[in-house]
Amino acid sequence: MTKFDLSEKVAIVTGASRGIGEAIARAYVQAGASVVISSRKMENVGPVAEAINAEHPGQALAVAAHAGQRADTQALIEQAVAHFGRVDIAVNNAGTNPHFGPLLTAEESHWDKIFEVNVKGYFWLCQAAARQMQAQGTGGKLINVASIAGLSPGPMMGVYSVSKAAVIMMTKALAVELGPNNIQVNAIAPGFVKTKFSRALWDNPVLYASLVERTPAGRMAEPEEVAGIALYLASPAADFTTGGVFTVDGGYILS
Ligand SMILES: NC(=O)c1ccc[n+]([C@@H]2O[C@H](COP(=O)([O-])OP(=O)(O)OC[C@H]3O[C@@H](n4cnc5c(N)ncnc54)[C@H](OP(=O)(O)O)[C@@H]3O)[C@@H](O)[C@H]2O)c1
Repeated sequence: MTKFDLSEKVAIVTGASRGIGEAIARAYVQAGASVVISSRKMENVGPVAEAINAEHPGQALAVAAHAGQRADTQALIEQAVAHFGRVDIAVNNAGTNPHFGPLLTAEESHWDKIFEVNVKGYFWLCQAAARQMQAQGTGGKLINVASIAGLSPGPMMGVYSVSKAAVIMMTKALAVELGPNNIQVNAIAPGFVKTKFSRALWDNPVLYASLVERTPAGRMAEPEEVAGIALYLASPAADFTTGGVFTVDGGYILS
């Protein structure tokens, strides 16, 4: 299992105060990594770092950072370097979707907010992390949490789907550019995962039943079920895996 060992590695995970981001951060810590975990609010992300440190002393640092703000993403890299000395893995996970409805009803403010966080924010962190990895000269891993909505339009989630498609193409473009630096760049495309973010889907019995019926696995995922692929993509086992898009959707996209 040494190919999946993250000892001595330093990972940044955004949106890690709950849901998929927290599950990924915990999986990295269990594999030996130190993690810088962020969300907008210290009162949300601080307790997660405290809980991790109670079991794995000194392995987690909480930082309040808005994922759509360039200065905040740069500060994340600086704090990771100041505290742990380096950055080996960066996971863009914090996402937003303030518009649920027909695409034609989307306002400019929806486009701006969704692209600020889901696309430009992902780029700012990739750029800052890649520059740090280039300076270190030891390669690295960039992992972008996209969505199956980036592969096939999510119902009532048109702008969000466009943003996740952009994440997938950004991932591929960066994989090409950063290959010579031994930096692998991959995307994860989850299906329906039971989190606060997807509450509108699982709180509505009719919507929930139709989603589950369409999913070959016959259920939604728990956040921990996305962590396995994130661990693989962060590990030396994935040193020749780049530009990929990995669905974790119980087969939903096939139906
Ligand atoms: N759940 C699903 O079914 C599903 C499916 C496909 C893809 N995804 C993607 O998975 C990712 C994680 O979603 P999730 O379901 O785990 O959501 P979640 O449980 O609601 O968690 C979202 C996390 O992001 C943080 N966050 C939100 N906006 C932020 C911002 N502007 N800056 C920094 N942090 C921010 C939240 O903390 P604070 O509130 O403290 O900031 C929280 O830690 C998203 O990119 C989402 O698009 C989810």
